[in-house]
Amino acid sequence: MNTEARSPAFNYQFNENDQEFSLFGSFRPQKIDELADCINSLEASISNVTGNFYLNVKRLVRMNNVAFHAIAKRIVKTSGDRPDLKIHVTTSSVLGWSTRKFSTLAKIAPNITINEYDNEFYPGQSFLEDGGFIPILRTQTKLTWRHEKSILPRHGLKPGMHVADICCGIGDFAVLMQKEFQPGRLIALDHSKSSLNYARKVAEDFGVRGIEYVYGDASEMLLEDNQFDFVTCRHSLQVFDRPDLILKELYRICKPGGRVYITNEKNSHCLGEPRSETIQRTYNEVARLWDHFNMDIELGPKSRRYLLEAGFSDISIESFMVTNLDGNPQDFADIIQSWEDVYAGQMAVERGDSVEDIRILKQGFQDHIFAALHPKGYAGWPIWAASGQKPQ
Ligand SMILES: C[S@@+](CC[C@H](N)C(=O)[O-])C[C@H]1O[C@@H](n2cnc3c(N)ncnc32)[C@H](O)[C@@H]1O
Repeated sequence: MNTEARSPAFNYQFNENDQEFSLFGSFRPQKIDELADCINSLEASISNVTGNFYLNVKRLVRMNNVAFHAIAKRIVKTSGDRPDLKIHVTTSSVLGWSTRKFSTLAKIAPNITINEYDNEFYPGQSFLEDGGFIPILRTQTKLTWRHEKSILPRHGLKPGMHVADICCGIGDFAVLMQKEFQPGRLIALDHSKSSLNYARKVAEDFGVRGIEYVYGDASEMLLEDNQFDFVTCRHSLQVFDRPDLILKELYRICKPGGRVYITNEKNSHCLGEPRSETIQRTYNEVARLWDHFNMDIELGPKSRRYLLEAGFSDISIESFMVTNLDGNPQDFADIIQSWEDVYAGQMAVERGDSVEDIRILKQGFQDHIFAALHPKGYAGWPIWAASGQKPQ
C-alpha cells in the first residue's frame, strides 16, 4: 500500500450474523496487555460460533509482530481445540503483507484457509488490463476533457479543494484536474498496478507534481472518513457488478457538504449518420454483452437514482455528447476501433458468440467509424455526468 493513504486508528468488531470478527486500522501495540480487550472479544466471539468462523483483516492497515503473534496464537489454538470449526481468514491484495503473514497459519493447521478477497473480484478487469485498452483511455479522456473542464465547476469543483479521483485508471484525468484546478490535495486511487505505473510515468513525463497515487480497492478503501471536498469516479461504477458498494465508500470519504461526481455511459444511445441502423443494432448488442459479464454500460441515466439511494442530496445531472467534431475525427474513430477490438474480440468470444454474430457486431463499429470519418457524417458517444452532496 502507498503510505500516503492515512491509516485510521485501530478498531475491531464481531458480526454475529456472519460469524465474522473484523480488525481495522493500525494495530501496533508495544505490549501484549494492550490487546487484552480485543483478545477477550475474539475469544468470546469464537466461543459463540459453530461450523465456520471468519477473521477479516482486509482493512487492517498495519500490524506489528506483537499483535500478529497474539492473534495467531488464539487462532491456531482454536484450530487445535476445535477441529470441527473451519476458520477462514480474509486478506486483501492491497495489503500484500497480510496474505503472506496469515498464509503461514494455513500451513500449520488444515482447518484454516486464507482467502485474498479482491483477487478476482471485478468482472471487467481482465478485459481492461489484458485487452490493450489502457492506451485508449487516454484518447477517451482527451475527448471528454473539453466538455468536463466546464462541467466540473458547475458540480462544485474549485481550486484549493481536497480531491480524490477513485478508479483513476491511467491517471490522465487527475493530471488534467491538477493543472486546471490546482487542488489543495489530490489523490488518485486504482486497483490496477499496471495502470498506476502508467499514471505515475505520465505525471513524471509532464512534470506534474503533487498527485498521491494509491493502490487500493474502491469498495474497501483504507482512506479515513470525511476527507475530501470533491470525489470523482469516472466511467467506473458501470464496470462493477455492485456499484452501490463503491458509492457507499465514495460517500464515506467525502466531507459533509462535499460532493461526489460520477460519469457513466449509455452505450445503446451511441449514434451515427449515415448507417444509423447497423450502428444502433451493434450498440444495443454491446449493452447485452456487458450485462452478460454483470456490468451495466447503460448506467448513465440511472446515476440520479444511485446517488439518491446512497444518501446524497442536491443531485445535479447532465449529459453531453462526445462527437467526431470534437477535434480530429480520427481520435473518435480510434476509440470506436478499440471498443470493437475488445467487445467483438475477447468479450464476444468468451460469451460464446458465433462467427456470424461477431461479424454483425463488428459491422456496426465499422459503420460508426465510417460515419465519424465521412465528410458529411456525424457520430456521437453520450455520457452522463452527475453529482450529489453529502448532507452536512
Ligand atoms: C473503465 S476504467 C476508467 C478509468 C478512468 N476513471 C477513466 O475515466 O479513464 C475503470 C477503472 O476502474 C479500476 N477498478 C476496477 N475495480 C476497482 C476497484 N475495486 N478499486 C479500484 N479501482 C478499480 C480499473 O482498474 C480501471 O482503471
